[in-house]
Amino acid sequence: MSWIDEKAHLELARIREAREKQSYPYFREFESGGLHTTIGGKPVTNFSSNDYLGLTNHPKVKAASIAAVEKYACGLSSSRVQATTVEHVELEKRLAKWYGFESCLVFTTGYQAMIGAIVAFADKETTLILDAYAHACILDGTFMAAGTPGRQPEVRFFNHNSPKSLERILKTKERKNAMVLVEGIYSLDGDMGLIKEFVEICARYDAVLVVDDAHGTGTLGRRGTGILEHLGLEGQVPVVVSTFSKTFGGIGGILLGSNEVVEHVKNAARSFLFSASLPVPVVAAASTILDMLETDGPKYVKELHQKAEYMRTQLTSAGFDLGASNTHIMPVMCRDERKTIFMHTALLECGVLMVPILYPGVKVGEERLRVNITCGHTQEDMDNAIELLKSYGEAFFVLSGDEIGPYEEG
Ligand SMILES: Cc1ncc(COP(=O)(O)O)c(C=O)c1O
Repeated sequence: MSWIDEKAHLELARIREAREKQSYPYFREFESGGLHTTIGGKPVTNFSSNDYLGLTNHPKVKAASIAAVEKYACGLSSSRVQATTVEHVELEKRLAKWYGFESCLVFTTGYQAMIGAIVAFADKETTLILDAYAHACILDGTFMAAGTPGRQPEVRFFNHNSPKSLERILKTKERKNAMVLVEGIYSLDGDMGLIKEFVEICARYDAVLVVDDAHGTGTLGRRGTGILEHLGLEGQVPVVVSTFSKTFGGIGGILLGSNEVVEHVKNAARSFLFSASLPVPVVAAASTILDMLETDGPKYVKELHQKAEYMRTQLTSAGFDLGASNTHIMPVMCRDERKTIFMHTALLECGVLMVPILYPGVKVGEERLRVNITCGHTQEDMDNAIELLKSYGEAFFVLSGDEIGPYEEG
């Protein structure tokens, strides 16, 4: 056995134990696409999906992808430098216009788009300032920049969604330029970033605000263009990063900014230059969803908000704790690892998938079920889930907040 086998064995102790107890809840295998699928032959409604408008499986989206497979197959065998198509460029132009930015660059994932944006700008003259709940792509872009010889920006964190805390950091930063990295909607908590306050503070300290709006795209603002439209802040944030992996039905990253900023990232970001270009069938799917958003965006957003409001009212009046959520992402807080796993397992037995989010994904005591409402959920889906949550919430003492008496050890 080599040291990597030994290390892997050691590191996997917690996962092995969970598997032995048959309580390992991840990597469940879907047998079809869509919010209504099967696992092990049993029908399941997925409440942890990010297909917020339920458009991923729309027949028009699939047809566009199939046509693109015929024309370009599933890959271009190279990076965008030598594998750009008219479809990529056309989509970039349309996205820039829809979001209201001068320019757009499409990456192969949102994760790479954020890393590219950070690494292209962060150097010795830069302080990167991150919200404490920053997504992994923001953290990894920051760590990559910090570990790049000759660049090494200063790295600081501020308390989650706290303008006061951000201001304290800006006052004490040690480098000339500041880049502040926040999110439109935080994916695990479902709370909106206080972007209005951050725009105002960044303007006072001449800092550049970068907003990751992966979860706001298609879900916020009258037309669905995101948090900036929702807060009336169009034109006031220099860089927005988003993704095709949620509302846009596939995979891919979106970088939005001025012509020069985007052009610089295009020529400097290694996560763009040294990774294969986005497959055209995926570009075609995103383009088709963009068509739908251009014509019916307001209708989809309204439907999503109505459904989310219904679910929120039902769950909060039943006594569930939805944490800091004020969007369609509404985690059901169980605040205990075993309660969360029991809830997840019982719900799945009844055909409802709500993925447990546990330590180290969240702090100990903040364990929760991931519950995202989408346009693809029917009234029946929601009512069924609500009734099941209520029954098991009571059975496993999630509603009362008590310790799980009968299951306590010792
Ligand atoms: C806030 C946020 N940013 C970025 C990403 C990464 O997007 P992608 O799936 O396109 O890599 C995600 C996806 O999990 C996300 O939740």
